[in-house]
Amino acid sequence: MSKTKVELNGKTILVTGSPGFIGANLVIRLLNEMNSGMVISFDSMNNYYDPKLKEYRLGLIEKVAETSSAKHIFIKGNLADKELINQVFEQYKPAIVVHLAAQAGVRYSIDHPEVYIESNIVGFFNILEACRWHEVEHLVYASSSSVYGGNKKVPFSVDDKVDNPVSLYAATKKSSELLAHSYSKLYNIPSTGLRFFTVYGPAGRPDMFYYSATNTLAKDGTIKIFNYGNMKRDFTYIDDIVEGVYRVMQGAPKKQIGEDGLPIPPYAIYNIGGGTPENLLDYISILQEELVNAGVLPETYDFEGHRELVEMQAGDVPITFADSEAFEKDFEFTPEIGIREGLQKFAIWYKDYYSHFN
Ligand SMILES: NC(=O)c1ccc[n+]([C@@H]2O[C@H](COP(=O)([O-])OP(=O)(O)OC[C@H]3O[C@@H](n4cnc5c(N)ncnc54)[C@H](O)[C@@H]3O)[C@@H](O)[C@H]2O)c1
Repeated sequence: MSKTKVELNGKTILVTGSPGFIGANLVIRLLNEMNSGMVISFDSMNNYYDPKLKEYRLGLIEKVAETSSAKHIFIKGNLADKELINQVFEQYKPAIVVHLAAQAGVRYSIDHPEVYIESNIVGFFNILEACRWHEVEHLVYASSSSVYGGNKKVPFSVDDKVDNPVSLYAATKKSSELLAHSYSKLYNIPSTGLRFFTVYGPAGRPDMFYYSATNTLAKDGTIKIFNYGNMKRDFTYIDDIVEGVYRVMQGAPKKQIGEDGLPIPPYAIYNIGGGTPENLLDYISILQEELVNAGVLPETYDFEGHRELVEMQAGDVPITFADSEAFEKDFEFTPEIGIREGLQKFAIWYKDYYSHFN
């Protein structure tokens, strides 16, 4: 697909959902790379998981900002506050928007549907409206592998039909893609949606399996392994996602006018996944080994006695597997970090974080 090069230096870049997991890592990368301009982190710092972790990530960002040639500011606010979003766009006029803020998590959406509508639908609508009235060079936003639901065909391709979400979370992510398409068409807003596949790493999300299982094992609890371990996930290490987003930001879909004189929507969707789905049980074995190597758990830990194989949960899917060919071709990058290396980094970080911060 033809792209318009987007220069990041000297620009104002708004990253919503920083200091969330992916957002914080992206902002750190931007501050390290940019030699001028400004990065704005926007986040409600909600307590879906321990906000101390978000404070910690914000601390990491601020430390990098001290030596960066680009400026960083943090705005605490809710995406659903339309006036605030407009004010941010009016005051700072971001040229590039990376919209990562969302209520994440498949399971939580079963008991807390309202917050998904508020953050993922109303919140994203407010961002789109702001992009409509304040021209941006590129809007990049997070979608999710969960839009594929129980897709039987693997690997999952962006050309597959994804009209059958199995969770409200997935429905809001698919809706985001549809809303973005209409704004792209109507107002010629260059937008790229990225379907992320199970992103993990240091200072990740405590609601995700590798992290919550580590917490449980560290407290001598029993981890539940769903679908009796018959699950496959396309895990993507955080640095690979950041590299991917960083590249995508710099290539906006080209604005073009169609035969009818109206814009051909400058719109793209990509999968970004590790590309090698791993068996959940293998992933758990490697996690256990790395937790022992990092000194989080003793060598004598009875892992067999701390696991329970249980049935599939509502909203969950047995496999995720990204076909990232289009992304790899358009942005010349293939995720490269395997689960051994990624989980080792997580385990080392976990040991250090819980020795010093908790
Ligand atoms: N981590 C993954 O494996 C994964 C996979 C697929 C998609 N995604 C998507 O990527 C994005 C980033 O995910 P993450 O893993 O960094 O999650 P995260 O929860 O760490 O970050 C999201 C941030 O958004 C903020 N937020 C939520 N609702 C808000 C609101 N109404 N107003 C302002 N801020 C709000 C939260 O406080 C949080 O810090 C999300 O859109 C998520 O749905 C993540």
